Amino acid sequence: MKHFLTTLDYSFESLDRLLASAARFKSGVETGKPLAGKSVALVFFNPSLRTRASMQVGIYELGGNAVILEPGATSWTLEHREGVIMDSDKTEHLKEFVRVLERYVSAIGVRTFAALKDWETERADPVLNAFAKYATKPVINLESAMHHPCQAMADMMTIRERFGAKKKKVLLTWAWHPKPLPMAVPNSFALAAAQIGHDIRIAHPEGYDLDEELLSQIKSCATANGGSVEIVNGAEAAFEAAEVVCAKSWGSKNCYGDPDKDAAFRLGLRNDWIVDKSKMARTADALFMHCLPVRRNVIVTDSVLDSPNSIVIDEAENRLHVQKAILAELLATGH
Ligand code: CP
Repeated sequence: MKHFLTTLDYSFESLDRLLASAARFKSGVETGKPLAGKSVALVFFNPSLRTRASMQVGIYELGGNAVILEPGATSWTLEHREGVIMDSDKTEHLKEFVRVLERYVSAIGVRTFAALKDWETERADPVLNAFAKYATKPVINLESAMHHPCQAMADMMTIRERFGAKKKKVLLTWAWHPKPLPMAVPNSFALAAAQIGHDIRIAHPEGYDLDEELLSQIKSCATANGGSVEIVNGAEAAFEAAEVVCAKSWGSKNCYGDPDKDAAFRLGLRNDWIVDKSKMARTADALFMHCLPVRRNVIVTDSVLDSPNSIVIDEAENRLHVQKAILAELLATGH
């Protein structure tokens, strides 16, 4: 039984096949209804525009029915830890929630952001992994503490539809933001770009390193697939010769759980770490990407975001197509 929790669980050949399938869905060549008569649960612990709308529409277009649940709002608050005495604010345990839900549905999508409290706990993705542990049907990660694989696949699709299956110089750049943000998007972008075999440069200020173990996996994937990984701590020079620029902010592990410390830590970085025209001018006419939502004139200036090189809307559209490919593959075995 297969889940879709991180692209790390998939080979280059599998990712390549999913991207080809997504392209067929987008072009209209693929019109199958593998979800006919089936329901898929979408469990959202956090807000969403793109993920929620694209999953709901994708399930409909594949012939299925989406059941949307929001623990703590439209369904009961959920406990995920084993062996706890549930005498606090949690009403239902995931062990029952998942096993009941999968009597109705053929797959479960889950969005569960990092709580941004305790890095060592959250890097293990405890809520997502509890779903995977109790489920006997496929679980799809719709963004967890550590990974956002559907976003990363849409990003790889968006690069591929502009450049074909060629290796590109891809810059993942940190950007200033008023609050510390989770690391799932940069983690999954860097990982998928490495698995596809791009030459990836990761630019961030000192103290904003990605998870050490994940970075080591990213480097191994890049080497295995003909790409490379370079880490730089300067904002300007990082843009040199890039063909794709993907911007994202994330919090520092040094200040994890302490937003005030993080705010102090990032003081003075705002002006250097914004994507603007002068930085983009150093690139090889790079395309600009961001997963959205994005804060205008904080992460990226209007002049870049509204330029012809900005492909953020295609990137968002491609969430629909890659997720249809993922759902079709996971449910092809007849769950
Ligand atoms: N990029 C992304 O996941 O968007 P939402 O948070 O709106 O779903």
